[in-house]
Parts: sequence; structure tokens; C-alpha cells
Amino acid sequence: MTTGIIKRFGLAAPIFAFSHCRDVVAAVSRAGGMGVLGTTHITTAQLEVELDWLDRHTDGKSYGVDLMFASNARPEFEAMTIDDVDRFIPEAHRKFVDDLMKRYEVPELPPGERERVFQEYMRGMVRTHKTAEERMEAVYGHPRVKVMASALGAPPQPVIERCHEHGIAVIGMVGRPRHVRRHKDAGVDIIVSAGYEAGGHTGEIATMVLTPQVVEAADPLPVLHAGGIVRGRQIAAALAVGAQGVWTGTVWLGTREAETTPLVKEKIFAATSADTLRSRCGTGHPARRLCSAWVDAWEAEGAPKPLPMPLQSILVNEALERMDRYQPKALVSYPAGQGVGMMHEQTDVRSVFLDLLTELGETLEGLGVTFEGLVGE
Ligand SMILES: Cc1cc2nc3c(=O)[nH]c(=O)nc-3n(C[C@H](O)[C@H](O)[C@H](O)COP(=O)(O)O)c2cc1C
Repeated sequence: MTTGIIKRFGLAAPIFAFSHCRDVVAAVSRAGGMGVLGTTHITTAQLEVELDWLDRHTDGKSYGVDLMFASNARPEFEAMTIDDVDRFIPEAHRKFVDDLMKRYEVPELPPGERERVFQEYMRGMVRTHKTAEERMEAVYGHPRVKVMASALGAPPQPVIERCHEHGIAVIGMVGRPRHVRRHKDAGVDIIVSAGYEAGGHTGEIATMVLTPQVVEAADPLPVLHAGGIVRGRQIAAALAVGAQGVWTGTVWLGTREAETTPLVKEKIFAATSADTLRSRCGTGHPARRLCSAWVDAWEAEGAPKPLPMPLQSILVNEALERMDRYQPKALVSYPAGQGVGMMHEQTDVRSVFLDLLTELGETLEGLGVTFEGLVGE
């Protein structure tokens, strides 16, 4: 058994791994999967550094990048300064965040850091088409980049054309079957079907129901199934419902290489599949993350309604930075999917990859299918 995706990218197994951590991305690509670097938390200058590093640490294997092309992007946010924020963000929202930080005694950032954190955020994360297009200029110079995923909405036409000129396949993510049309019309090459269980931004339709519909709508484009994949037998299920491979995120958060702090790992290993929640509190769009006092506060009755993207991220960015630095136990949360319930201890990327591959092979054999993926390093 093989899939078009395995052949197209010369993979050992049809496993794509989204991560904000370059070590995870490189280790997955080296093992024979496709590591994909999330770029929303870094500036373009940092992205250049990461791509240079990945070129040197992927043993000549392919890897990918993930960008955010928000379809509702507004150019006026590009010029926003820290002094303008009050014009865009209601007083009640700012007070809500300040009160929470005070109640949980989260230390302030050191003097001078507020402005730096804000500037870095604005340069790195405001997801207008213009900033995302500029960011892609850094990517085109790296020929080992073979896929570019667009997290929210289809990328603009010029980006798709440039990607194709550089031999980069474009991936569109969907949470509903009807979103496939938009991506197909835009000219993307691969569709990711991201279901309810998934960590990060996700829709309301469960993968088992979503993927067969996306496969049908996407035809003849290949589909990757995303959401909840932690075990090899789930990859077999994804193939059975018509996907050519899987797109994963949460499973890598428990690895030694991941960017997750010891506290986040502790929370992940203690969590059951009922301990994550889809909340708008991080970006304004529903995203699944670990439950915590921070998430609960936003979901509580009387809490302000999260602002539309990108204002919610601008509102909470400094608080998230403070929580990241000072790790207040009750508040700390992290994007993660329902698959956390199957993750119990720290391991490493290569072991996770081989476990996925081995259980996939065993499952397919148990079903009477022979798996003939090329075995990785
Ligand atoms: C910590 C974390 C951060 C994420 N950030 C992004 C992102 O910036 N862009 C994106 O396209 N997807 C992001 N995702 C979603 C993943 O691309 C993927 O769809 C999801 O993790 C798949 O579901 P799973 O987590 O159950 O494996 C993120 C997921 C996690 C766990």
C-alpha cells in the first residue's frame, strides 16, 4: 500500500507534522515525514534564521512552512503603534485582562519590554496579506521548502503562482466541506481536512464525518486528515476514510524536542480528552487549547466577548508573554487537541514517528493490507 502523497514527496510515511519548533520539524523530516514550521510567532528576520538552520539540519530532506493568510485582514492594522491600541481595543477588555493578571499575581514585564514585545508581535504576527506576502519572499530562496500551508483562508493568487514557480505545493486548510471550493478555485494543490478534535484553530465538524466529505469535494486533489492523531491505527482510519495522509500537531508537543515548557508538558500528560476547549480567547477565532483558569475566565458568564481577529491577539499578546515567562500554574494553557488524552509521558520525535509508522503497518496488515512505505533513517 502506498499513497500519492508518499510518492510525490518521497516520504517514508504519509505523516505531516506542524510545529512552531524547528527541532521538531527537522527531526520529522529526517525520519521520513514532512515537518512543517509554524511561522506566526516569529518575525521575518527570525524566519530567515530558522530556514537557514533547517536547511542545515534536515539531511537534504524536504520540509514546509505554514503562514496565516487571514481572509479578513485589514491593512490599517499594519501601521498600529502601542499608543494606538486604546483606539481599537475597548477599555472593558483591557481592564478584564489586567484584573486577571493582578488576581493571579503574574509579574509585569521588565521596563522597556512592553514596547519591544508589542513591536515584535506586530512585525511578526499581524496577518495581513501584505505582510504574509513579504514573508514568503524569505521562503522562496530555500529550495528544500516543498510545501506552504495557508492556515486561514486561501492564499492570494500571486503567492500561489510564485510557490508553483519554486516547486512548492500549496496546502489549504478547511474545517467545512464547503470551504474546499474556495481553495480549489484559488489553485491550491493539497487540502487539509481539520476536524473538531484538532489543536489550534478548528471547526465544529468531527473528523470521521468531515474527511469523507472533504475528500469528495476536493477530488482530484489529495486530502490530509487532521485532528486527534496520536496513534498509528488512527492513520489507518484516516486512509480508510479517503485521506492520503495525516496532518498532525498535538502529538509532537510531548516530545523532548518541542518548545513546550515543563509545566505545559505536565498539563498535557495529566489531561484527559475532555480537558481541552474550543475558545476564542487567543485569537478571536475558535481554537482548541488546554483548559486553564485563563480559558475558564474568558468562557465565564459576564466575561467580555473576545474581539475579532487580529484585535483579540493584540489585546492578549502581552498577557500571554507574561504567562509564558512566569508560568503561573493555574493560568497556563497551550493550544492542544483532544489527542492529549492518549499522551502520557515525554518521548522524542523519532520514537513518536516510528511508533506511528509501526502501528500503522500492524493495523493495515491486520486488515489484510500490506504497507510498503519506504522506511526512514
Ligand atoms: C500548539 C499548536 C499551535 C498551532 N498553531 C497553528 C498555526 O499557527 N497555524 C496552523 O495552520 N495551524 C496551527 N495549529 C493546528 C495544526 O496545524 C493542526 O491542524 C492540528 O494540530 C491538528 O490536530 P492535532 O493537534 O489534534 O494533531 C496549531 C496546533 C497546535 C497544537
